Amino acid sequence: MNTPFVFGKIARSENFTDREKETTLLVSNFNSLINTIIISPRRWGKSSLVAKATEIATAQNDKLRICKIDLFNVRNEEHFYELLAQNVLKATSSKWEEAVDSAKKFFSRIVPKIVLGGDMQNEISLDFDWAEIKKNPDEILDLAEHIAAEKGFRIVICVDEFQNIAEFDAPEYFQKRLRSHWQQHQRVSYCLYGSKRHMMLDVFTNSSMPFYKFGDLLFLEKIDTPSWILFISEQFANTGKSIAKEQSELIVHLADNHPYYVQQLAQQTWLRTTDRCSEAIVYQAHTSIIEQLSLLFVTITESLTNNQINFLKAMIAGESALSSAGTIAKYRLGSSANITRSRKSLIEKDILDNRAGELSFQDPMYRSWLQHSYFI
Ligand SMILES: Nc1ncnc2c1ncn2[C@@H]1O[C@H](COP(=O)(O)OP(=O)(O)O)[C@@H](O)[C@H]1O
Ligand SMILES: [Mg+2]
Repeated sequence: MNTPFVFGKIARSENFTDREKETTLLVSNFNSLINTIIISPRRWGKSSLVAKATEIATAQNDKLRICKIDLFNVRNEEHFYELLAQNVLKATSSKWEEAVDSAKKFFSRIVPKIVLGGDMQNEISLDFDWAEIKKNPDEILDLAEHIAAEKGFRIVICVDEFQNIAEFDAPEYFQKRLRSHWQQHQRVSYCLYGSKRHMMLDVFTNSSMPFYKFGDLLFLEKIDTPSWILFISEQFANTGKSIAKEQSELIVHLADNHPYYVQQLAQQTWLRTTDRCSEAIVYQAHTSIIEQLSLLFVTITESLTNNQINFLKAMIAGESALSSAGTIAKYRLGSSANITRSRKSLIEKDILDNRAGELSFQDPMYRSWLQHSYFI
């Protein structure tokens, strides 16, 4: 039997829960070509939400095309332009011949070499002369708009891990160029999302940056407890097993409402349950997940300074006033400059999440491992 829980993959159809408001907003923005920026730590459900909205919006509107680009491994402009051109052609062509035609038609100054991929399922790739693009990126930046005008499409370009553009050479110059093109598009809108909250905030909410006020800002939250409880009990029931409300609640609590971990813990619990779940099973499942991750957690912890580790220890102990003299002495946090530095680098390393000044662990399993296996 297939397990009724998924993690590490896009959550679709019956594996997708909650997010009604966010889905409605995104579908409506897709349909009315309003730019959207989605910010949340990784594994909270950005890709799943975008996939859900894509499904609904494209079913409603057959002239709508959604083009998805992931910048997770993109470190320079060249690679960015290449992906953009390739994916726009792919998303707007039903056959590779059509993509080739578009490439010929819409590139006049830069002529890409077209390489056809293996099984012809729209698999084309383009080889650009980088020196040419550098002189003339405009054709690529406006490609979607030109194709949309020609074919009567509306296009939404979704860019994942968008904050990576802040690490290209001359990032502000590049961002200015993107924005100056994109804001003139009439038939194309953008959905830009990313997992590094501090970097995304800098790109989109800093008034001196080119992308300031580019679109609707959506801060995706975790999924709330009532939705999870309902989801977990339904998934159990649909597969002939049962779980009491208290145990579902325990799963959600141990996984701190974190979408990926709730699904993983629910799955591990489900696998261990013959027909009726128990509290002991949930705890066993939780322990087993932490054991699987412990090597990774050791490595992460080894990369931290003593001040940073002490900072985490004080947080786990529930200390709220980290800069009070008593706390500093008790946890050996160093000078107040040390504390500021620790805090900043723990956020930059994605160990802590900073929501309007309120710090929390990004990874609930890491927090639990520190508390029960490391700080003992
Ligand atoms: N709406 C949802 N309903 C149920 N599970 C979800 C939902 N969104 C995310 N998840 C869980 O979280 C995991 C990570 O989601 P994903 O969309 O890849 O997050 P992100 O793109 O923010 O990294 C999924 O594999 C799934 O287990
Ligand atoms: Mg994602």
